[in-house]
Amino acid sequence: MGRPRLSRRALLAAAALGAGGSAFAATPFPSLARIAARSGRVFGAAVEPEQLERDPAFAALVQDQCASLTAENVMKWDALRPGPETFAFDRADRLAAQARAMGAQLYGHCLLWHEAWPAWLPKEMSAGAARSLIEQHIQRVAGRYAGVVTAWDVVNEAVERNDRRPDGLRVSPWLKALGPDYVPLAFEAARSAAPRARLAFADYGLEYDDVSWMVEKRGTMLALLKRWKGEGVPIDALAIQGHLDASRPPSFGAGLRRFLAQVADLGLEIYVTELDVDDQKVVGDPARRDAVVADCYARFLDAVMAEPAVRRVTTWGLSDRYSSKAQFSPRPDGAKVRPLPFDDGLRPKRAADALQRAFDHAR
Ligand code: XIL
Repeated sequence: MGRPRLSRRALLAAAALGAGGSAFAATPFPSLARIAARSGRVFGAAVEPEQLERDPAFAALVQDQCASLTAENVMKWDALRPGPETFAFDRADRLAAQARAMGAQLYGHCLLWHEAWPAWLPKEMSAGAARSLIEQHIQRVAGRYAGVVTAWDVVNEAVERNDRRPDGLRVSPWLKALGPDYVPLAFEAARSAAPRARLAFADYGLEYDDVSWMVEKRGTMLALLKRWKGEGVPIDALAIQGHLDASRPPSFGAGLRRFLAQVADLGLEIYVTELDVDDQKVVGDPARRDAVVADCYARFLDAVMAEPAVRRVTTWGLSDRYSSKAQFSPRPDGAKVRPLPFDDGLRPKRAADALQRAFDHAR
């Protein structure tokens, strides 16, 4: 398939990034991407193309720190699919061009999810239509970015034990239409459209050792992955989102390590794909909150980086200037949330030190 044909606008916007990059010569912090690369790991962040286009200082920080860009929103169905027959690739193409201009990988997020649906999709979702909707979508989208997207979250958040199926799968509209076979169907479509992309199954709620539903979800996840691997489903990786909460004890210990080792034993790679640390409920001034947040990063990474199968760490945003937590998890005192390694002024925080140290000590 080769590279997508990028619009003139996408290429011009990406070219402008180069200018921003050189204006930001005095880097405030060693490159996390470069340090992670020493142990063969890829560090990156989720971004929106407009952030890079409108904010040259932020773009320069991203260029300096990231070896991979994840599409925070522009590759979801509601962004790509204005209508049942139509595709809108402009924003995703711009992100692809930006990644290329920076020499960064592009991480595709996500081919199937039960959220971020365009308004027209529910009406089209009959059992008969679902299969061809999935196949066509994945063929067009993964096919367009074949050779460009290094890895895809193929199916996102498909496990929900509260839905009470014995296999633990979420009773999503995809599952209602097609049964559990929609998962193998999606992976096979992705493999055939983008044979060189790594294909991941992504979910949240696998991180904490002292949260019983998460511990149980690990068991559910292992059983599903084992079954699919046994059936020859082309899954390459488990993606653990890593949305952490600084108001909980950072219980990332033997349980998490054992779970990661069990995933690795199935022959899978492991990616941390949406790392951030929610400080919504942490009391105190910014310095204290930053210390608690950094401790959470450090303890999580301590467990995670000990597992050689962990190949990527991606934060969900890079700077507090652009964090979805500001909208979804605002602080009651009205102060700005501080979940990411760089602050609102693009200065490195103690969380950035924690990442640096974790990558430095990794082997
Ligand atoms: C979030 C984005 O960060 C927001 O900008 C958007 O409004 C909603 O989605 N799990 C996922 C991500 O897999 O796609 C979500 O991203 C955060 C939770």
